[in-house]
Amino acid sequence: MSGCGHNAGDMDRRDYLNRLVDQYTKTHPRSHDHFRHAAQVLPGGGSHNLRLFSPFPFYEVGATGAQITDLDGHTYTDFWQGHLANILGHNPEPVIRALRQELEAGRGLATGFPGRHQAELAELILDRIHAQQIRFTTSGALATMNAMLLARAFTGRKLVIKIAGGWHGAHPFALKGVHSYRGGLGQLESAGLPDCADSEVIVTRFNDLDDLERVFSQYGADAACFIVEPMLGSGGAIFADPEYLTRARELTEKHGAVLILDEVITAFRFHPGAVAELYAVEPDLFVLGKAVGGGMPVAAVAGRADIMALAAPGVPHGTAVKFDGGTFSAHPQAMIAGAAFLRHLVERADEIYPYLGALGRMAREGIEQRLGAYNIPARAAGDGGAVSSHSSIVAVHILTEGSDRARDAEQVYDPARSDVELRDVILKLAMLNEGFFIVHGYGALSTAHTEHDVARSLDAMERIAAALGN
Ligand SMILES: Cc1ncc(COP(=O)(O)O)c(C=O)c1O
Repeated sequence: MSGCGHNAGDMDRRDYLNRLVDQYTKTHPRSHDHFRHAAQVLPGGGSHNLRLFSPFPFYEVGATGAQITDLDGHTYTDFWQGHLANILGHNPEPVIRALRQELEAGRGLATGFPGRHQAELAELILDRIHAQQIRFTTSGALATMNAMLLARAFTGRKLVIKIAGGWHGAHPFALKGVHSYRGGLGQLESAGLPDCADSEVIVTRFNDLDDLERVFSQYGADAACFIVEPMLGSGGAIFADPEYLTRARELTEKHGAVLILDEVITAFRFHPGAVAELYAVEPDLFVLGKAVGGGMPVAAVAGRADIMALAAPGVPHGTAVKFDGGTFSAHPQAMIAGAAFLRHLVERADEIYPYLGALGRMAREGIEQRLGAYNIPARAAGDGGAVSSHSSIVAVHILTEGSDRARDAEQVYDPARSDVELRDVILKLAMLNEGFFIVHGYGALSTAHTEHDVARSLDAMERIAAALGN
């Protein structure tokens, strides 16, 4: 069959997909049953749509290191690793030990007081990233929203400039131009949004200096902020060109806008700190999440003290930013987990990051070779190039237009240029049936993965490519 639609056609693909669905359904009766119950009480069967893949998700009963075990007794090698947060694999020992100690001492649940662990995690992070102050919250979405509110209040301006394909979580200023492709990326992604979700958010193309210049010359005077991921994550695992981020810093400075680097995925992923440092770019605000919680719900905004100060008590009404509330913000267990996790990453950085980088390289090179050998034009993204040789992020783009690399999210989501169905539906299900859990073609390596895990995953991809390719 031609997986990419250039030869044998859609019938073969449908047949192959039907066979994958049959095999998965037959081998997961308990998860199927559980899903039917879950779908009665939870819309779609759960609370995060990406987890609710078709035909139905499996339900995990155990997770250790690189492995996940499900209700039907299958074990998968997991390259998703907690939405890419679990750099040390599932339930790593240093974090479990720290949490257990606290619980055994009869502490750790929410008390509603500031708690001493909060400042400890703050200091650990501020030692590693170039920021003066930090405030914690519970999700990346809340953090990016509050960073934007801070920027709007600080500048007294309204416009938020964001990247096409930039996912910053679900909130009104972040739900434009994410992944709904209709002749481009620029639509609102949700019903129910206020009008300003469209009129006050400007979308620009990633890694496109001309478009960035255009946007700033048109909107710069009203721009509160430019929010950008140094590696476009959900939009394709594509690193920003160094000159792109440098120019973003210059333009935001020139126009008096706040530069927000969304490092929810990237901070502590490529080295024990923010990736901004590797680019030698200093944003005004960072947004952090994922790894900084060590497997617990922690996210944060960090940055210039004069901007962060707007969130403190006592700021006059009219200037104060209500980056506030959160019954569970800076939850003691979450602070303890984050601190144990980051301390481990910092102390063992010299072993951890080169190891992760080598596994990432092995996966990216292997995927291109194995799939390419069967005429599937797969390109592995996540390579940090000159910015970082320690990238453990791996995404796959099936670039049917013959392009050598994905440069922006438009290319990734344009069905005329990229075979997203092959990647996100067929390859995903086929890999599941082979015992591997992947997202967007692969995912991320953790210290719990071995070369053997990667080699086995490449063998599985080759078997799939043989069934798909020609
Ligand atoms: C770059 C980026 N920013 C923000 C978010 C939102 O974080 P959360 O899912 O914790 O709300 C994500 C989530 O994947 C992300 O990748």
